[in-house]
Amino acid sequence: MSDTPSLHTDESRYSTAKLLRRLLALAWQFRVDCLLSLALSIILLLLGLVGLQLLGTAIDVIRHALDPTAVPPAYPFGWKPPANWSPLHVVTALSLAIVAQAVLRSVLTYSYNMTTVRLTQGKIVPELRGKLYSKIQRLSFRFFEVHGSSSIFNRLTGDVQNTRLFVDGVILQGLNMLITLAAYFLYMWKIQASLTLACLSVTIPLALVTHYYSNRLRPGYQKNRDLYDGLVEVFSQSVLGIQTVKGFAAESDRIKKFETGNRAVASQQQKIFWDLSVFTPITHFLSQLSLVILFAYGGWLYVQGRIPLGGGLVVFAGLLQQFTGQVANLSTIANSVQQSLTASKRVFEVLDTPIEVENNSNPVKPSRLKGNLVFDGVTFGYVPQTPVLKNLSFTAQSGQVIGIFGMTGAGKTSLLGLIPRFYDPQQGRILIDGMDLRDLDLDEYRRQIGIVYQESFLFSNTVAANIAFGSPYATQDQIEQAARAASAHDFIMALPKGYNTVLGESGADLSGGQRQRLALARALLLQPPILILDDPTASVDAKTEHEIVSALRHAMEGRTAFVVANRLSLLRRADRILVLEEGRLVQEGTHDQLAHIHGPYQDAAVLQLMDLAREERSAA
Ligand SMILES: Nc1ncnc2c1ncn2[C@@H]1O[C@H](COP(=O)(O)OP(=O)(O)OP(=O)(O)O)[C@@H](O)[C@H]1O
Ligand SMILES: [Mg+2]
Repeated sequence: MSDTPSLHTDESRYSTAKLLRRLLALAWQFRVDCLLSLALSIILLLLGLVGLQLLGTAIDVIRHALDPTAVPPAYPFGWKPPANWSPLHVVTALSLAIVAQAVLRSVLTYSYNMTTVRLTQGKIVPELRGKLYSKIQRLSFRFFEVHGSSSIFNRLTGDVQNTRLFVDGVILQGLNMLITLAAYFLYMWKIQASLTLACLSVTIPLALVTHYYSNRLRPGYQKNRDLYDGLVEVFSQSVLGIQTVKGFAAESDRIKKFETGNRAVASQQQKIFWDLSVFTPITHFLSQLSLVILFAYGGWLYVQGRIPLGGGLVVFAGLLQQFTGQVANLSTIANSVQQSLTASKRVFEVLDTPIEVENNSNPVKPSRLKGNLVFDGVTFGYVPQTPVLKNLSFTAQSGQVIGIFGMTGAGKTSLLGLIPRFYDPQQGRILIDGMDLRDLDLDEYRRQIGIVYQESFLFSNTVAANIAFGSPYATQDQIEQAARAASAHDFIMALPKGYNTVLGESGADLSGGQRQRLALARALLLQPPILILDDPTASVDAKTEHEIVSALRHAMEGRTAFVVANRLSLLRRADRILVLEEGRLVQEGTHDQLAHIHGPYQDAAVLQLMDLAREERSAA
């Protein structure tokens, strides 16, 4: 078992270089789609260049027609108009070609967008989300103890989206940008080298500004995600705990708390926005500057006759505008780099979290167990240095009911948690039918254990589906049989739609005792050789307790049962009672034996008998 807390918070593991490498690997997984998308964008680029060149030529044709002393037009792509064509013919033909180019570009832009969306939203996001979800499902309890549910939700939703941004917003856009810049540069260079250098001199400060802001933005994004987690946490806790909130009239407190969080997110977001709003105008200013240079210096060159008008200056202006536009795009890409690095770290952290309790390399698939359970010198702590169970040894024979008694915090729930192997002990071993739990196939083993907790979680689904939660193939008959065994059948039949009644969230429309009996039916449907009951009557009244206890009596028959209880009504029926004190086994015996030995059990028994006597007296 590893001691590491749930997440890999080890920063060196998430250095920028390592994150980039993993993100590239993610993109590589979808290389065919990426290439298709890239190919389409290159075709679009080439078509754009063709269109621009045709426009320049058309201008030169008109200019030559108006002033035959001007330089004759140079026709591109080795094309020459037939000698008998008038300039009008030529301009018409060029215009038609430009229109055809524009139509083709629209169609290709559409398919480019479709390809990219299909890649990101249709493939990458579902893949990542699926991976993350199934990892979260398999993670051990410790993960959920360390991480708030909101942080987990946000990672599954927002962070997955921002991680995929690396593929379309960084790699595809970045490559597209590089290719476009190279193509434009060569084209401009071919038209006029010195003009190219003059105009592009502003791209160096542009790139520097971009770099500066990109570094400045990243910590802001990280902080933003963390603050947002906190905000969602406040929100979801208020919804889940609405009863407590209202019960303690704490609404205005919660609202204040939310407002504080809300303001923190907003002001943090404002800071990011502030940086962005300085950054974007600077880049725009710099790109405009290059146009000024173009018209000053380029105009002079034209007057000198060193550059043609259409095929030279006009085409150049078009190229330059797009060139600087692409450079300004750098900021968007830099932004996406930061966003996707921050998000991917949060996604990878979950994916990298080791599953603490896992099958070994060659697990034994147990057939139906008999239920002989042995704790052999078991020491366990949630934090290895502070054990909550200390050197526990006991044996439970098949079919026995083992009661577990102890003060709050004595380690009863912790002991029960070791039986289905929610955690592994640090020392000692636990054997079932002679096999070490660590050698068994976890799923197969856990399927043979029925569990009822102190409070049971019911899903927003029908009663039948809730009972059949662990046994999706159960028939209606089997479900009803389990419900009868759990004394739940009668109250279920009294519900508006019987077994098909849909329960509210967490079964909010049932009483505590009803919920416990549903949970018991759910556990019994598995026909488990081992049954674990963690204080199932803790939160119900005496009458309901009586109903549950008599239901349990049937339920425990023929199974090895472990029952945590503080009330003697349940413990009295146990074949053996283990008494825990601060994680140690201090007494062991039947109710009758323990009730006659001085110790914590006797103390509790006396107190409860006195209570009972007092109740009876006051009733009389
Ligand atoms: N998930 C956890 N992480 C860290 N410590 C825990 C965790 N669960 C329980 N503990 C600690 O372990 C000790 C034993 O707790 P446990 O829940 O087993 O007691 P218990 O006997 O079931 O108490 P109760 O009667 O109140 O249910 C306590 O000191 C508790 O604080
Ligand atoms: Mg407990």
